[in-house]
Amino acid sequence: PEPSATQIVCNQCIKALVPRKRDAHKGDCGKVSVIGGDYGMAGAVRLAAEGCLRSGAGLVTVISRPEHQLIVSATRPELMFWGCELVDMEVYLRLGWASALVIGPGLGTDDWGYNLLKAVDLSDKPCVIDADGLNLLKDMPMRQKDWILTPHPGEAARLLDISIEEIEQDRFKAVSLLHQEYGGVIVLKGAGTLIYDGNKCVVAPVGNPGLASGGCGDVLAGVIGGLVAQGYSSMEAACLAVVIHGGAADLAARMGERGMLASDLMPYIRQLVNEI
Ligand code: APR
Ligand code: MG
Repeated sequence: PEPSATQIVCNQCIKALVPRKRDAHKGDCGKVSVIGGDYGMAGAVRLAAEGCLRSGAGLVTVISRPEHQLIVSATRPELMFWGCELVDMEVYLRLGWASALVIGPGLGTDDWGYNLLKAVDLSDKPCVIDADGLNLLKDMPMRQKDWILTPHPGEAARLLDISIEEIEQDRFKAVSLLHQEYGGVIVLKGAGTLIYDGNKCVVAPVGNPGLASGGCGDVLAGVIGGLVAQGYSSMEAACLAVVIHGGAADLAARMGERGMLASDLMPYIRQLVNEI
């Protein structure tokens, strides 16, 4: 069906997060590997990985350029880190550890990023593909299609080979075309984010222009991955994460939209995963 025929506002469809079991241990709460951060872009993968942790994931590993270990570990010691220079067999073992993968933030679009995305595809793990992962996806024959794709309008335009204006003119049509072409769950970001799984289209009137600053999208990708790792379906995780991320931005905006940073969302994400 055309998405416009089945659109639902997000608060009518998200279900409450399941409370943690009193005897939970970290192995029960999901393991995520966050892959990206080419030279000079450690921040993207660091933010996405904290998004995973703040959504409640039990264990999170960053897979990035070896030179990023110190900055990632020193600024968030709860994260594990694996430095990857050559994409070889060891990558497959590392990916095998995770219950969900997030790939793309700061990934770059050269051979390193390409080979990592290929490895993610071959791993058959549930995955969130964001940012440069999406830029690479267009020209890569991929096997699996049950991924979650999180394009902003620019990335959506590239994926569909049309202009950003065409995307923004009819966002329902755009999300439908993206699903036709790429399958999975599509999260078309921007004011009034749309989430579409080929069946149900959810409109999320949450968030504010304070989110228009570098890194906020990376945090969203992390929250989605963290929820997938905790056992939510792709569509549930995408809808919940968009509501939590936008809701966190609305709480953070009490101090003003201008100057809001991606890191400012973290305590509110923590608050909302315990309230929803
Ligand atoms: N209202 C509501 N939500 C908004 C608004 C707004 N006005 N502006 C942005 N957002 C939300 C989006 O819906 C999305 O969840 O903030 C997030 C921004 O995500 P991205 O556009 O991916 O931005 P970000 O990832 O931080 O950009 C850093 O990554 O994707 C690449 O090309 C991108 O170079 C850029 C880099
Ligand atoms: Mg982005």
